[in-house]
Order: sequence, then structure tokens, then C-alpha cells
Amino acid sequence: MQPEDPVSSLKTDLLKSPDTFCVLVGVTGSVAALKLPVLVSELLQLPGVKVRVVTTEHAKHFYNPSDVSVKIYTDKDEWELWTQRSDPVLHIELRRWADLLIIAPLDANTLGKIASGICDNLLTCVVRAWDTSRPLLFCPAMNTAMWQHPITDQQVSRLKEFGYVEIPCIAKKLVCGDEGKGAMAEVSTIVSIIRQHLPNQDESLQKT
Ligand SMILES: Cc1cc2nc3c(=O)[nH]c(=O)nc-3n(C[C@H](O)[C@H](O)[C@H](O)COP(=O)(O)O)c2cc1C
Repeated sequence: MQPEDPVSSLKTDLLKSPDTFCVLVGVTGSVAALKLPVLVSELLQLPGVKVRVVTTEHAKHFYNPSDVSVKIYTDKDEWELWTQRSDPVLHIELRRWADLLIIAPLDANTLGKIASGICDNLLTCVVRAWDTSRPLLFCPAMNTAMWQHPITDQQVSRLKEFGYVEIPCIAKKLVCGDEGKGAMAEVSTIVSIIRQHLPNQDESLQKT
């Protein structure tokens, strides 16, 4: 059997049905990207939720894609998909598909890029094209010294002015050995906040 061409497989992968809530997870190059597999698997437990991932190149260093049970879109996919006028533009297809975007973890670099409107990869293009009537949640994660830099507060405030929702980082012993604020919120916290955005939330809570 012939393998499906990239455009057909994208169309199949991003098929929407009225009874599903589509969650796009953006992942950036923080060590907290280690938690991507568990975040995805816990999101998939939510009723009616479909999940896809958009990764930065540096984030790929921290997880094994075979531990993630859904399609992970990369910068390479964005450029390979488009060869002629009739082809889909991946970042636009993803923003159409997603009912909610969660960036977990959001590292200092991508935080700065989003705050100033830079869009030089698939994830930041999705963000720049985002339909702001839909929720965009972000989970900062960085070393305490980076977190304490005065620009962090300015950039987080800017994202909140855009209408994005911060899931604040927490204080704990970081992977680098430092202790303090900057660790990504717990996966359970992130999932429970996403749960609050599901349609017919009360109904689904009754079923669980
Ligand atoms: C081992 C390691 C861990 C890192 N952890 C973090 C982190 O937790 N937060 C952060 O903001 N940057 C962290 N960085 C730096 C980012 O990976 C770097 O700024 C990178 O350019 C981010 O690219 P991206 O935003 O395109 O994913 C880490 C780098 C390394 C090598």
C-alpha cells in the first residue's frame, strides 16, 4: 500500500468532530519538557479531548517522541508540507483545529519572542495567528535567576494583556540544583485548569 502523502495525512490527523475538544500542546526548550509524555497522557483521560503537540527544536532534546502517543508537529513539517499554492499552511491549519492552546513549558526564550511578536518557528507562528477568542494558557518554566530578571515580569504581564492565561510557576528544587521559583506548575494543576475550559464542564464532571 502507498504511504499517504503529507497533505492527506494532515487532513486525516486534523479531522474535527462536533463532540471533541481539541487541545494543542506547545512545548519549548525547558527541562520541564521532560513532562510532556505524562501531560499528554493525562489530557487524553479528559472526556472528549483530542491532543496534538507542536514542539520547538530545542524541546525535542528533553523527551522521547515514542513516549508521546499523539502526533508531534515540528518546524520541518511546516516547511515540508507547503510546496505549491494549493497546499495547506501548517500553523494556520493548527490554529483552526485547536480549541485551546497550552504552552507547557514556556521557556524564557519563547516567552520573550511571544511578548514581542516574533514568529520564527511553527509554535510562535501558531501563537501569532491565534484566535484570541479561544483560550491560550502558558506555563512559564525557567531557572530562578532567569525568573527573577526584571524583564520576566514585564513579558508575563504583556502576555496577560493579550488575554493569555498564566499558570504560574512554583518554587521547588530545580533540576539544575538551585532552589526557588521557576519550576513549571504541576501537571495535575495544568490538567485541572484545562478541565475548567471544557464545554459542558458540569456534565463531564458528573460523569467522572
Ligand atoms: C539542559 C538545559 C535545560 C534548560 N532549561 C531551561 C529552562 O528550564 N527554562 C528556560 O527558559 N531555558 C532553559 N534552557 C535554555 C533553552 O533551551 C534555550 O534558551 C533555547 O534557546 C530555547 O529554545 P526554544 O524557546 O526555541 O525552545 C535550558 C537549556 C539546557 C541546555
